[in-house]
Amino acid sequence: MLQLQRITKTFGEVTAVHPADLTIEAGQFVGVIGRSGAGKSTLLRMINRLVEPSAGTIQFGDRQVTAIKGKALHQWRSDCAMIFQQFNLVGRLDVLTNVMLGRLHRMSTLPSMLRLFNDEDRIDAIRTLEWLGIVETAKQQADTLSGGQQQRVAIARALHQEPDLILADEPIASLDPLNAQKVMDALADIHRERNITVVTNLHTLDTARKYCQRIIGMRDGEIVFDGSPEALTSTQVKLIYGTDTEIDEATTSTDLNHHDLGHPFREKAGMDTDRASFIPQIAS
Ligand SMILES: Nc1ncnc2c1ncn2[C@@H]1O[C@H](COP(=O)(O)OP(=O)(O)O)[C@@H](O)[C@H]1O
Ligand SMILES: [Mg+2]
Repeated sequence: MLQLQRITKTFGEVTAVHPADLTIEAGQFVGVIGRSGAGKSTLLRMINRLVEPSAGTIQFGDRQVTAIKGKALHQWRSDCAMIFQQFNLVGRLDVLTNVMLGRLHRMSTLPSMLRLFNDEDRIDAIRTLEWLGIVETAKQQADTLSGGQQQRVAIARALHQEPDLILADEPIASLDPLNAQKVMDALADIHRERNITVVTNLHTLDTARKYCQRIIGMRDGEIVFDGSPEALTSTQVKLIYGTDTEIDEATTSTDLNHHDLGHPFREKAGMDTDRASFIPQIAS
C-alpha cells in the first residue's frame, strides 16, 4: 500500500501540489487526469523522489519513502519503475541492452558493470520482449523503432526491474491511436497478470475510463475528484477541467487551457525534464 500524507510541492511562488492525502492499495490501476499544469507530473515524480516534496510524507509498506537516502533511495527507484512520454531509451543501444539496463542498479561495482549482463538477465529480457510481442526487435538499435515499439521497450525495461509499482507519465501522449491502445493494453496485462500496481497520468478521459479502476482528477494542484470511472459524471469532468462547455472525451487534451483541442496527442509541459530523468539514474 502506498500512502501519501499531506504531500506538498512548491516551486518558488508556485504551489504545484497543495497538501494532498492519497492511499493506493496494492494492485490498483489508477489514472490521474487534469489540465496541463494541474500538478500530475509533480505528484507522480514525488512518489519516486525525482522531485523532492516540500512537505508531507510518503510511505510504501513499512518503507518511509520520504526519509530514505543513498542506496535505499536507489532501491526504491528501482522498485517503482517510471515510464515517460518520450520513452527515454538509449537510442544508440540495441533493444535488448536497453531492457537489461533496467537491472543496472543491482550492479554496484565497476567490475560487475564491465562484465555487464549475465545469461539469466539476457534470457529474462528476451522473455519479457516476447511477452510484449516485440522480441523480433531485440538486436535493433532502439532509435530505429516506431514510437509505439519504443514505448513497449520502455515497458519491458520497467518490467525487467521487477517493480512493485509502475508510474507512467502520459505514456501514450506521443503515440498514434493504434499504438496508444497497444501500450495501454500492455499496461493492463501487466496489472492483470502480474498484479503490479499502476499509476498513470493520462490526457484523454476515454482512455482513463476504459483502463482505470480508479480515477484521480487534479485541478490547480489539488485533488478535486477521486473515484470510479462510473462516478466521474460530466459535472465532475467540468470541475476538473474548469470549463462550462461540454467536453469530447476522446480529445481531452492537457492543452485544453490553450484551446488546442485539435492536437490530442501533444503536450507542451514536462517534455524536456522527462527526457533527462532516466539517464542520470543509471549513471549515478
Ligand atoms: N521544475 C519546475 N520549476 C518550476 N515550476 C515547475 C516545475 N515543474 C513544474 N512546475 C510548475 O508546477 C505546476 C504543475 O506542473 P506539472 O506537475 O508539470 O503539471 P502537469 O503534469 O499536470 O501538466 C505548473 O504550474 C508548472 O509550471
Ligand atoms: Mg505532466
